[in-house]
Amino acid sequence: MQDLDDNRRAARGEYWLDDGVANFFRDWLGYGNVAEVFKDRPEATSQFDDGDTSGYRPQLGAWNNLMDGYYGYESLLTHQMDDFIARAVQPDTQVLKTLLTSRDYFLAASYVYAQVPGQPYNVGGNIAANNSARWQTLPQNERAGVLTHPAWLAAHGNNFEDDPSAVHRGKWVRENLLCGYVPPLSAVRVMAKVGPHAADKSARARLTEATASTECQTCHGLMNPLGLPFEIYNHAGYLRVRDRASDGGFTTPDGTSTLTGMPDPALNVGVRDAVELSEKLGDSPYAKRCFLRHVFRYFMGRNENRTDACTLASMETAYDSNNGSLKAALSTLMTSDSWTMRRTPGAGE
Ligand code: HEC
Repeated sequence: MQDLDDNRRAARGEYWLDDGVANFFRDWLGYGNVAEVFKDRPEATSQFDDGDTSGYRPQLGAWNNLMDGYYGYESLLTHQMDDFIARAVQPDTQVLKTLLTSRDYFLAASYVYAQVPGQPYNVGGNIAANNSARWQTLPQNERAGVLTHPAWLAAHGNNFEDDPSAVHRGKWVRENLLCGYVPPLSAVRVMAKVGPHAADKSARARLTEATASTECQTCHGLMNPLGLPFEIYNHAGYLRVRDRASDGGFTTPDGTSTLTGMPDPALNVGVRDAVELSEKLGDSPYAKRCFLRHVFRYFMGRNENRTDACTLASMETAYDSNNGSLKAALSTLMTSDSWTMRRTPGAGE
């Protein structure tokens, strides 16, 4: 995960975060392992899917090079996410909202055998080797922030385009932006799997059909509605232009979802897709509070407990009164009693 040499450094964005802060975002967003998640035909259902399955097709070359950087000195997909985050966080203004809504993405430039590196971002063609070409502002209706970044989508997606990626993405949102609890897999006592791949079943249809019953909904009701908005993207984070239809043909992708029973009442709405969901989460004080709890956990190296309530409240006040400043929240944490004082744990702690 390091810069390997000067050639690679020259192909990175010009915004940087300190390692500690950069690693918090990697850990919280969980995208560092993206190269380990196998993707069958990463371009499937995107505008670049021409049905070709050759192992030498440019679509595959582009994806593989973003995973392993075999050709040339351009950045990996994980680096591109690092750079996206650095640019969003560095002004230190409304940090969470900016992270969830920024449209300034850092792409790799074209290189031999990897000439179309923008495809996961729905950007076709060659990209010149300079940073005004690498930084691209993506369309309003296609992306908004880290949760619509291909690195996050692919890291939290499955292997095939019609797989239940929505479960993993929804679970992440529930746990990491709403600080909710989802009963673990060890509690599953039922046949928990989707039906076989079928020409007339999209990922959405396979998941919705399999988990329709009450025995599944006790858990999946917490995850699926927050994951379905991401169905406008495929398993690797490419924007879908079409999806499987129930008549065996193709239809337009469906990212709609009705959110109910959310911890923040403002989130009990219908959303069009992950772009709208991200914008709503960016406006939610509840999501902001959850974000700061994750900041607390990472930098303290432990979960919060009741005695940390004042520290968490002060972090939020510092963040809010400094126009959404992560630095102010961190300074408050690092001068708080939670950080500076040793405390004898109470009974049962
Ligand atoms: C006790 C809670 C619970 C119940 C009940 C439950 N699930 Fe799940 N299920 C989970 C969790 C948690 C995950 C996600 C695991 C992860 O992301 O690590 C999951 C994941 C899945 C996945 C995705 C697996 C994959 O290949 O990616 C499917 C499909 C699924 N469940 C189907 C079902 C079906 C069908 C039922 C009912 C018959 C069911 N589940 C009942 C908790 C539950």
